[in-house]
Amino acid sequence: MSGSYFIPLLFLLLSVTAEASFCSTKGIPLVRNISELPQSNYGRGGLSHITVAGSLLHGMKEVEVWLQTFAPGSRTPIHRHSCEEVFIVLKGSGVLYLASSSHEKYPGKPHEYSIFSNSTFHIPVNDVHQIWNTNKDEDLQVLVVISRPPVKVFIYEDWIMPHTAAKMKFPYYWDEECFHTPKDEL
Ligand SMILES: *[C@@H]1O[C@H](CO)[C@@H](O)[C@H](O)[C@H]1NC(C)=O
Ligand SMILES: *[C@@H]1O[C@H](CO)[C@@H](O)[C@H](O)[C@H]1NC(C)=O
Repeated sequence: MSGSYFIPLLFLLLSVTAEASFCSTKGIPLVRNISELPQSNYGRGGLSHITVAGSLLHGMKEVEVWLQTFAPGSRTPIHRHSCEEVFIVLKGSGVLYLASSSHEKYPGKPHEYSIFSNSTFHIPVNDVHQIWNTNKDEDLQVLVVISRPPVKVFIYEDWIMPHTAAKMKFPYYWDEECFHTPKDEL
C-alpha cells in the first residue's frame, strides 16, 4: 500500500473506532464524572444537554436521566411524548406551560406554573408542555427523568396546532448519533 493512501485510511479507521466506542455500552465506567460526559446544544440555541444515563449510551431499559441547562430566555419546543417525565429544578426559575386536554383536537391554552430552584414536577403521559427560562439573568438547570427510552417526541408550532399535525421527531436530537435502525426494519 502506498503511503498516500495509508494516512486517510488510518484516519477513517480511527474515527470509526471512536464512534463505535462512544456509542457502545461496553466498558463504560460505573461511576462517571458528569463534567466529563458529552455535552452539546444539539442545534438548539441556549441549551446544554447531557445524557447522564441513557438507553442508547448506557443500555438503560426503563428510565433515562438528563441534565439540561437553559440560558436566559431559552425554552423547549411545545411538545408531547408517550412517556412519564419528572423534573427537579436544580438552579434558576422559569415557567412550565402544560395543556392537559390531550383528549381535545389540539392542546389549547396551557396552564402556567412557576417553577423555581428546588421545585419538582412531573408531566403526565402525552400531555403537551413547554419549559421556558423566563429569568433574564440566571440559567435554569433541571435534572430530568423519563420512562420508556429512547424518547419519541411530537412537536407543535403553537397551542392550537391539531395533535394529528404535530411533527414526530425520532430519534430525538441527542439520540441520533447512536441510533441505528435494525436492517430488517428498513
Ligand atoms: C470531574 O471532572 C472535572 C472536569 O474535568 C474535574 O475538574 C474534576 O476534578 C473531576 N472530578 C473528579 C473527582 O475527578
Ligand atoms: C433545597 O432543598 C434542600 C432540602 O430541603 C435544602 O437543603 C437546600 O438548601 C435547598 N436549596 C435551595 C437552593 O433552596
